[in-house]
Amino acid sequence: MKLPQNFYKPLAIGAPMPLRELPVRLERMLHFFPPHLEKVRAKMSDLAKQVDVVVGNLEDAIPLEAKEAARAGFIDVVRKTDFGATGVWTRINALNSPWMLEDVLQIVAEVGNKLDCIILPKVEGPWDLHYLDQLLAQVEAKHNIQKPILIHAILETAQGVKNVNEIASASPRLNGMSLGPADLAASRGMKTTRVGGGHPFYGVLADPVEGQAARDFYQQDLWHYTIARMVDACLANGLRAWYGPFGDFSDPAACESQFRNAFLLGCCGTWTLHPSQIGISKKVFSPDPKEVSFALRVLAAMPDGAGAVMLDGKMQDDATWKQSKVIVDLARMVAAKDPEKAAEYGF
Ligand code: GLV
Ligand code: MG
Repeated sequence: MKLPQNFYKPLAIGAPMPLRELPVRLERMLHFFPPHLEKVRAKMSDLAKQVDVVVGNLEDAIPLEAKEAARAGFIDVVRKTDFGATGVWTRINALNSPWMLEDVLQIVAEVGNKLDCIILPKVEGPWDLHYLDQLLAQVEAKHNIQKPILIHAILETAQGVKNVNEIASASPRLNGMSLGPADLAASRGMKTTRVGGGHPFYGVLADPVEGQAARDFYQQDLWHYTIARMVDACLANGLRAWYGPFGDFSDPAACESQFRNAFLLGCCGTWTLHPSQIGISKKVFSPDPKEVSFALRVLAAMPDGAGAVMLDGKMQDDATWKQSKVIVDLARMVAAKDPEKAAEYGF
């Protein structure tokens, strides 16, 4: 095990100091784009104004013959675009692929000072983070990168889920994790063909009721267990957790429900793969005005965060004060970026 006193030391001479505190940023949606497509790159300035983070995708969904073009397209668009406060991330290819090394070497060399974070797919254990951490330090040092490039892990293999706690504490570069339900389903041998979301057969059959012909069936959330494990591992290590992809663009209601379950369980955002999901994610991952108004009342009723008071018949104490603070802090971050939301929250 690495000695605690060495955890925050740079891994290469000349690399930037690892961060002790992760930047506090609003990252409700990580919006994926295919950088090999010229028409997508042409709209990047507009897109960057609508989302919290843009992610140049180099991995799955990019055709094999377009892998190099995607990397080059990402470098080109990052160079030419002013992203303002919008985060710039990329999902590189997996560690065992023929493209990953050049993804890192070329992107850091060319646009390393504009890149906030690298998403590493198919993370199996802490060793995957250690490798990328060391490699990044070397490449950052070589190219005089000023701030450390963060790493984001996708939880999408059975082994990754088994090792989720060790992954979460592997490197000070790690900013959090996303669920990868499509690869995870395959890796686990789940009998589904979907990208996230529920399944009509996964549920609980209610007991028979006399006089009622059909028994009630309640569909359950296939991802509840994994999201909860991911959230605990991340938050216990000062990281954040994101839901991942929702592939059925024709079902915005199911998308919203899946996103909301993740939000309520502790996730701070999600991936968006289609423009229609941007609005859904904004709605879901910005706290509800009614919740914000109640949370503000809790904070006001308990100015020092201690003791107990009753509000609308509900008991409030130190713990509900802390929950209220989570909601109000998030609302303030949202409001700082979005004047419409600020008005809704009454800030
Ligand atoms: C995402 O990469 C997934 O596999 O769901
Ligand atoms: Mg995947």
